[in-house]
Amino acid sequence: MKQSALRHHSFGKPLEVLQLEQIAQPEPRAGEVRVKLEFATINPSDYGMIGGSYGNLRELPAVAGREGVGVVDALGADVSGIEIGTRVRFPGEDGAWQAAACVAADELLIVPPEVPVEQAAISFINPPTAYCLLKKIVDLKPGDWVIQNAGNSAVGLSVIQMAKAMGLKTISQVRREELVEPLKAMGADHVVLEGTGWAKGVSEITRGAVVQLALNSIGGESAIDQIKALGDGGTQVTFGGMVGDKVRFPTRFLIFNDVRLTGFWWDRYGKRNGLVGVRDVMAEVYAMMADGRLSLPIEKTYSFSEYESAIQHDSQPRLGKVLLQP
Ligand SMILES: NC(=O)c1ccc[n+]([C@@H]2O[C@H](COP(=O)([O-])OP(=O)(O)OC[C@H]3O[C@@H](n4cnc5c(N)ncnc54)[C@H](OP(=O)(O)O)[C@@H]3O)[C@@H](O)[C@H]2O)c1
Repeated sequence: MKQSALRHHSFGKPLEVLQLEQIAQPEPRAGEVRVKLEFATINPSDYGMIGGSYGNLRELPAVAGREGVGVVDALGADVSGIEIGTRVRFPGEDGAWQAAACVAADELLIVPPEVPVEQAAISFINPPTAYCLLKKIVDLKPGDWVIQNAGNSAVGLSVIQMAKAMGLKTISQVRREELVEPLKAMGADHVVLEGTGWAKGVSEITRGAVVQLALNSIGGESAIDQIKALGDGGTQVTFGGMVGDKVRFPTRFLIFNDVRLTGFWWDRYGKRNGLVGVRDVMAEVYAMMADGRLSLPIEKTYSFSEYESAIQHDSQPRLGKVLLQP
C-alpha cells in the first residue's frame, strides 16, 4: 500500500524543495498503532526544519511537518485498551505531512472528545508553549502584567486567552492596525503597534503597575521595546526569532534594572519532563479548549496536492493557522 507525503530531499526553501510523493504506508509492529492523519498544521518551525536551521533535524529524504491530529486506524500485535477511531496526536517525529504514521501505543496522546478536531490539530505546539510561558518562567499572580510580541500569532492568541482565564493582564505588540479590534475581541487588554514608541508610555497603560514578564518570538527592535517596558527585576523570555536577527539588548537595563533574559523550547520541556509532564500541560490546554476559553482561528485548509498554495497563503498577512489534509 502507498500513501501520500510531502517530502524534501535537500534542505532549502519549502517551495523549492518540497514534493508530493507516494511512499510505503507503514504497518504497525508489535506494541504500536497506526494513526491516520485528519489535519496537519503549518508552523514557522516547519520552515526551519525544511531549511536546515532548526534545533533538531531529520535525515533526508524527510517528510516535513511537526504537528497534526489523527485517528487510530490499525493496531499492532499485543496492543490492548485502545480502540480504532480514537483521536490522538499524530506522531510528528518522522514528519506530520503524511497520510499515516506509527507510534508505540503507550506513547499516545489522546485528545478528549469535547475538543473540536481542528482545534486539536493546532493544540500540540503553540498552546502548550503559551501555557508554559505564563506558568513556568516566573510566578505571576492575578492582576500581573505580561507583554508579548507577535500578538496575532497562534502562541500570541493562546497567551491572550489563557492570560484572561488566569486573571493576568496583557499588552500585545502587533504590526498591523487592523489586528487591534480582533485581538481585543479575543480578550486582549491592550494592543500596541510596533514602532510607535509605546514602551515609553507603558506605566500609563498599566496604571503604574510593573510589567514582570515579556514574551519575545520576534527579536530586533520589537524585543528591545519589551526590555525598556519591563519593570525592575522583570524577565524577558525568547522562544522565537522571526526577524532572523541576532538578539540585541540595551546593556543599561541589565545593570540598572536587573532585567533577566532567558529562553524556552517546548521540545526541550517535553524531553526534560517526559510524557507525564507533557500530558499534564496538555490536560490544562484541553480543559480550556473543551469549554471554549481557548479557541484559535483557522485561516484555511488545503489538500496535500495544493501545498504550494497553502505555503503561499501561510506567508501572507493572516489571523489563524493554515491546515493541510491528505
Ligand atoms: N520555542 C518554542 O518552543 C516555540 C513553540 C511554538 C512557537 N514558537 C515560535 O513562536 C513564534 C510564533 O509561532 P506561531 O506558530 O504562533 O506563529 P504564526 O501563528 O504562524 O504567526 C506568525 C507571527 O509572526 C509574525 N511575524 C512573521 N515575520 C515577522 C517579522 N519579520 N517581524 C515581525 N513579526 C513577524 C507574524 O506577524 P504578521 O501577521 O504581522 O506578519 C505573526 O504574528 C515563532 O517564532 C515560532 O517559531 C516557539
